[in-house]
Amino acid sequence: MKKLKNWDNQTWLSSENYIYQFNKFLNKRVRLNKNTKILDIGCGRANIISTLQKRYKFREKPIGLDIMKNKGIKKNIIFKKIDGYNYLKNKNSKYDLILLKQTVHFFSSSKLKVLINIAKKRLERGGKILIFTLKTTNNKIPCFKKMRQKLDSSLKRDEKLFKIIEKKLKRTNVTFFNFKVNISKHKYLKMVKSRYISCLLDLSNYEISKGISELQSKYNTQIKFTDTLKCIAYKK
Ligand SMILES: C[S@@+](CC[C@H](N)C(=O)[O-])C[C@H]1O[C@@H](n2cnc3c(N)ncnc32)[C@H](O)[C@@H]1O
Repeated sequence: MKKLKNWDNQTWLSSENYIYQFNKFLNKRVRLNKNTKILDIGCGRANIISTLQKRYKFREKPIGLDIMKNKGIKKNIIFKKIDGYNYLKNKNSKYDLILLKQTVHFFSSSKLKVLINIAKKRLERGGKILIFTLKTTNNKIPCFKKMRQKLDSSLKRDEKLFKIIEKKLKRTNVTFFNFKVNISKHKYLKMVKSRYISCLLDLSNYEISKGISELQSKYNTQIKFTDTLKCIAYKK
């Protein structure tokens, strides 16, 4: 799969409100305090852990891993440009929270199995793994026809990955994070053009511009929908 470059860059995903709502959701699932040690695998620009660091001033700065070094990575966390799997395999440190937000679909089934096994071992007693993925049924992300086909097939694969995750973690708790998006069509089309979501990465320029015309006529000036993430939580 090609690498994702434009994730959360000036989209609702990087908005203060999104990060605030997301961290509020997180807070209800994990008891955070100064001593909490956090590892974020596939952190992107690290907006989430950076905001948590500002609020909790953790004694050990959260660590964010990503295979891409995006522009504007937050400075108040420790960022490492590395494959999450390799990092976990080669480091014995333990964490109270291992976060995988919208990242597991980048792993092959076999790598994911091993990743989950090691992540379990790298948890402190009472520590949590939180895995967030797009909701697979009735997903509301605005799509053109080809994009919907790609998204649906990626969501089908996600369902297979859930089975692996649930088999490996056994006792899990599933909840959903809902965020109400209200975005101008102009801005959303720019996001599509910059291939903000992985189901757009393999489309040709022609398919993208055809899709943009399709979205142009399908939506009014403002696009409203709910962005829903499934959260799989495991406690050691
Ligand atoms: C959809 S983005 C999510 C970013 C961030 N978690 C968030 O929600 O804002 C997925 C991220 O996972 C990263 N990624 C993909 N494969 C990875 C791997 N093997 N190890 C670490 N990061 C990876 C991508 O580069 C990308 O930045």
